[in-house]
Amino acid sequence: MRWLQNSFSCNVSFSSETSSRSRYNDCHRSPATPPIIALSSSRTIPRIVRGGTLKSSFATISTIFTYPMEYITLHTGALMPVVGLGTWQAAPAEVGPAVRAALLEHGYRHLDCASVYHNEPEIGLALRDVFSRMKRQDVFITSKLWITAHQPDRVVAACKKTLHDLQLEYLDLYLMHWGLAAVERDGDDDPRGSDNRLLRESISLRQTWEAMQALTRLGLVRSVGVANFTSPMLIDLLSYAAIRPAVNQIELHPYLQQSRLVEFCQSENIAVTAYSPLGSPGSLTRADQPVVLQDPVISGIAAAHGKTPAQVLLRWAIQRQTIAIPKTIRPERLAANIAIFDFTLSATERSALAGLERRHRYVDPWEWWGIPYFD
Ligand SMILES: NC(=O)c1ccc[n+]([C@@H]2O[C@H](COP(=O)([O-])OP(=O)(O)OC[C@H]3O[C@@H](n4cnc5c(N)ncnc54)[C@H](OP(=O)(O)O)[C@@H]3O)[C@@H](O)[C@H]2O)c1
Repeated sequence: MRWLQNSFSCNVSFSSETSSRSRYNDCHRSPATPPIIALSSSRTIPRIVRGGTLKSSFATISTIFTYPMEYITLHTGALMPVVGLGTWQAAPAEVGPAVRAALLEHGYRHLDCASVYHNEPEIGLALRDVFSRMKRQDVFITSKLWITAHQPDRVVAACKKTLHDLQLEYLDLYLMHWGLAAVERDGDDDPRGSDNRLLRESISLRQTWEAMQALTRLGLVRSVGVANFTSPMLIDLLSYAAIRPAVNQIELHPYLQQSRLVEFCQSENIAVTAYSPLGSPGSLTRADQPVVLQDPVISGIAAAHGKTPAQVLLRWAIQRQTIAIPKTIRPERLAANIAIFDFTLSATERSALAGLERRHRYVDPWEWWGIPYFD
């Protein structure tokens, strides 16, 4: 896993179009490969070849902006932009305009999707439009296998459904969304037993991972990874994985830093994506939850840099060499959340942020599935 910096130009046309949640989601209330850099697939010593400036392939040219971006090199050799657009709780009617604006106007080159967000068809419509103006290979797209599709013979079908919905031929990254399996029952993505707990299914992570690996051989996905994996789950997975996970996507922000898990993943050449990097303010259900965006230490650091608290949180994430995927559907926040490459947090500031650790999870399955997943 290596970190690369890059600026690339985009020709942006102002004439371009701009600007159901499930029970699971309800419960949660409670260039990808810029051609200027080519890498070998060597796990430890990527060969970096520098070339010229990437020109994107928009049909109409009216203005040229330069968007800075940084990339993490996955063990597969793929380059993953360190900022991506999250799409959980982006309503179907709102997600399309946000995706178009993010990719065509604001320089995003990375989308984080999931079948359980119930908005992949709307994202697919936006992507069909976007990829008539820019190249598919310039955007890194992640999606996730839901827990009711862990049975090996359902994995390929689930991946193909996501590809169909997103109108793509391949995914850059496909993640096992959670490290547990639930029964498939009439398409219900949140099956419950009489005790209201999740109805688990007896499928090992190994069975599912082997089916995930097969997706790469079928050419449906470029890299496979996991989400919400703890270190014991990863250690077990690594004991049999023929293809190692490229990424572990976990909740990370100053109130839940998981520094030891981050370091463990990075030492194993598994890149770490920070989900809910802003503390998932759209998911807050209880008045007693701390709001990381309102933390006075973060506000103070933001004021010192002339930045917003959200930008400090995202800068903190990428200075930890993690990948941040903030979700927004608002144009002004799309712009702000990617404008984080023009300042640096000092060691003193990072130390102050480290002191904010509270081990507070905003996304905790105990609250909706009744499973002590992280205990
Ligand atoms: N693997 C997993 O299990 C998992 C779990 C959770 C999330 N994720 C992924 O991670 C992404 C991000 O996490 P998240 O959606 O939980 O939370 P988040 O990105 O931390 O926060 C999103 C919320 O913050 C607001 N927001 C965005 N930019 C802002 C800014 N600059 N200032 C103030 N508020 C701002 C958004 O509202 P507006 O939209 O109104 O701007 C939204 O309510 C998800 O969308 C999803 O793709 C994965």
